Amino acid sequence: MKNIKFYIETIGCQMNVNDSDKMAEILSEKGCLRTEDMSQADIVIVNTCSVRFSAEHKAYSLLGRLKEQKDVNPDLIIGVTGCMAQYAAKEIKSRCKFVDFVLGARDIDLFSETVSKYIPIDSGKEYKQENSEVFKYITIMRGCSNFCSYCIVPYVRGPEVSIDYNEILKEVNKACDDGIKEIILLGQNVNSYNYNGVNFTQLLQKISEIDKVKRIRFMTNHPKDLSDELIDEIAINKKICKHIHLPLQSGSNDILKAMNRKYTYEQYKTLYEKIKNKIPDINITSDIIIGFPGETDKDFQDTFNASRQLQFGGLFIFKYSPRPKTLAAKLKNTVSLETIKERHSLLLEDSNIISKKINEKYIDKVIEVLVEKVNNNIAEARNSQNIKVFFDTKENLKGRTVNVKITKVLPNSMSGILQ
Ligand code: 5AD
Ligand code: SF4
Repeated sequence: MKNIKFYIETIGCQMNVNDSDKMAEILSEKGCLRTEDMSQADIVIVNTCSVRFSAEHKAYSLLGRLKEQKDVNPDLIIGVTGCMAQYAAKEIKSRCKFVDFVLGARDIDLFSETVSKYIPIDSGKEYKQENSEVFKYITIMRGCSNFCSYCIVPYVRGPEVSIDYNEILKEVNKACDDGIKEIILLGQNVNSYNYNGVNFTQLLQKISEIDKVKRIRFMTNHPKDLSDELIDEIAINKKICKHIHLPLQSGSNDILKAMNRKYTYEQYKTLYEKIKNKIPDINITSDIIIGFPGETDKDFQDTFNASRQLQFGGLFIFKYSPRPKTLAAKLKNTVSLETIKERHSLLLEDSNIISKKINEKYIDKVIEVLVEKVNNNIAEARNSQNIKVFFDTKENLKGRTVNVKITKVLPNSMSGILQ
């Protein structure tokens, strides 16, 4: 029997990357082979995101291409999973009749059972998964109960639930046995992790006690829940990477209130400075939404000033996208697309200059990086601060920790010479 080939397209956040990894593992165990060429696949999974309209648009255009592929090959199996599949299953089924199954993000545990209906019983051969990855995402909590007024996640992924730390530790151990060097813990708000009285700091301690774990990262944080205890742990624990992604969303208190973020800019700034003081080598990155309903020129100016004042190592700037079910989608006083575009590019340009300047402190310094891949003699690595570092090498250094002297920096990456 010829091997069934599968292709997974992942749209959206690391949670989806993690779910895609799990689906790939299940399909591999069933004897299917992964392909990176969608046109060669017998099964295509589109793992969708709904956080912004553009992500949904991307899924529908991919599905449009898949319809053409299915016209040529009627045996093609198409599955839609993820957040959009969770809340817009009906729409997907009616707009895309050629889709075989739709499975929402909250039903990912049913993937094995669902996909089995479309795969002939495998020939029973043992499948040994070749795992050569360097880092692994591990989900430590599902859902979110924060209800930021612009965000669809609580409606799609449901209320926040922490996963049993015994399960997490088991997964970490298994990953390390497979050769994983870096563990990236995932949750919409990892700072509020709590399972049977074990909080996030204690979870980090438990994971770092595992000898085989070399590096630990986590994301994402909520400024209202990031504790002093956690800051102290990051400061002293050598395995925890010195990077915190701390979404600000806006520098205007009026907008923060309308967003239901539950902190003021001043509170954020105090927290930011505390982190910087306690962990001098920390890299703090952030998210900003431009064009939230009612955002005035003054509100935008506050955000622009905040970005200048705080000097983030990296800033992700999103154009506000009204999402179904959310409170903000009901707000009038919307900002014109033109204004959003203008504010977006003003902030992007300025924040790139800042991030580049922050990276300049690395010039001529020798830093330690973990190599994630080597392609065409160019290694792609990452330092503890989560900055991408490129360098030339003839050796396959994947998975190794090496020293690199930095010679050139950009806003989001650096390059250097292997020492
Ligand atoms: N429109 C634009 N950006 C959004 N985000 C979440 N919801 C929306 C939305 N409706 C951004 C936030 C969040 C990041 C993952 O996506 O900045 O931190
Ligand atoms: Fe969305 Fe806010 Fe929850 Fe983040 S914390 S997932 S932005 S509701």
